[in-house]
Amino acid sequence: MNDLDQLVQDAQADFAQSPAPADLENAKAKYLGKSGRLTEQLKALGALSPEEKKSRGALINAAKQQVEAALNARRQALADAELDAQLKAESLDVSLPGRQRGTGGVHPISRTMERIEAIFGSMGFDVADGPEIETDWYSFTALNNPENHPARSMQDTFYVDMKDESGAWLNLRPHTSPMQVRHARAHAAKYAGVTPMPEIRVIAPGRTFRVDSDATHSPMFHQCEGLWIGENVSFKDLKSVFADFFRTFFETDDLQLRFRPSFFPFTEPSAEVDIAFASGPLKGRWLEVGGSGQVHPNVVRNYGLDPERHIGFAFGMGLDRLTMLRYGVNDLRGFFDGDLRFLSQFK
Ligand code: PHE
Repeated sequence: MNDLDQLVQDAQADFAQSPAPADLENAKAKYLGKSGRLTEQLKALGALSPEEKKSRGALINAAKQQVEAALNARRQALADAELDAQLKAESLDVSLPGRQRGTGGVHPISRTMERIEAIFGSMGFDVADGPEIETDWYSFTALNNPENHPARSMQDTFYVDMKDESGAWLNLRPHTSPMQVRHARAHAAKYAGVTPMPEIRVIAPGRTFRVDSDATHSPMFHQCEGLWIGENVSFKDLKSVFADFFRTFFETDDLQLRFRPSFFPFTEPSAEVDIAFASGPLKGRWLEVGGSGQVHPNVVRNYGLDPERHIGFAFGMGLDRLTMLRYGVNDLRGFFDGDLRFLSQFK
């Protein structure tokens, strides 16, 4: 092998072994740079005779072309590899399914609230709202609960580590009844001196809290309070309101209603309300759905009204219970676990 063939072979090997463009440019300098091996060969031509110059020059040029061809081929190969790597790194799988915007749904409990508001709205009831952290007075005293009533105990009621102006601990309202008192007081103040006073007809749905937890009780649950106060409102009105409500809510006329004598400090007489379906999986079973009664004179007085003139009834219903019955759910904890597999069934 002559010296030029050797040179070309060395250059090809050097280039092939250059792992990156910068290495390749260094390798190039070894052959084509100012004092590179080919450049030295060309410089050496000066010392030759014109005849030799011609033939040797042609050989050197051919070698130079081979070196340049090898250099360009390697440059291209490195650039291609770089592009390949980049494409791989930034690859986009266009066959993957796109990210969809999820379609939400109204939570079953919220759905029940909306239905209840619509049904009572059609019977002329307003919707009231009120605080979830309550004073002792609104949760208990105003509702005629004696000082030593068990509902006031720590076993039943959650207390907040904070006191009101009277020095009593604040509580997480254990029922929606405080809203009944707040609304009635505001109503009485607004219409003070107006005779006859417009009737109070209101429902107050919302979150409630009690120290209780199993398949049918959650420490946070929902109730809906109802209140109808006028000068001529009686228990039969309560019965017809309840009958209309439950038949509309459950979309069936085949439903029986039962008032069972009971006790609540804030009503007298008081009754638990049971319903029974005439068909379906729960056919014939009495199901407790709420409490009710004629508002106790002491409570009417706490509204700022005269119990000799203003009379009426109040009721409270468990919304979670109603939702479970309506959708056939047997563990209420599913409503509050936030598991979409459960919740999306109600979309
Ligand atoms: N507040 C009662 C409860 O939580 C329900 C009720 C409301 C009963 C109004 C009678 C009248 O159990």
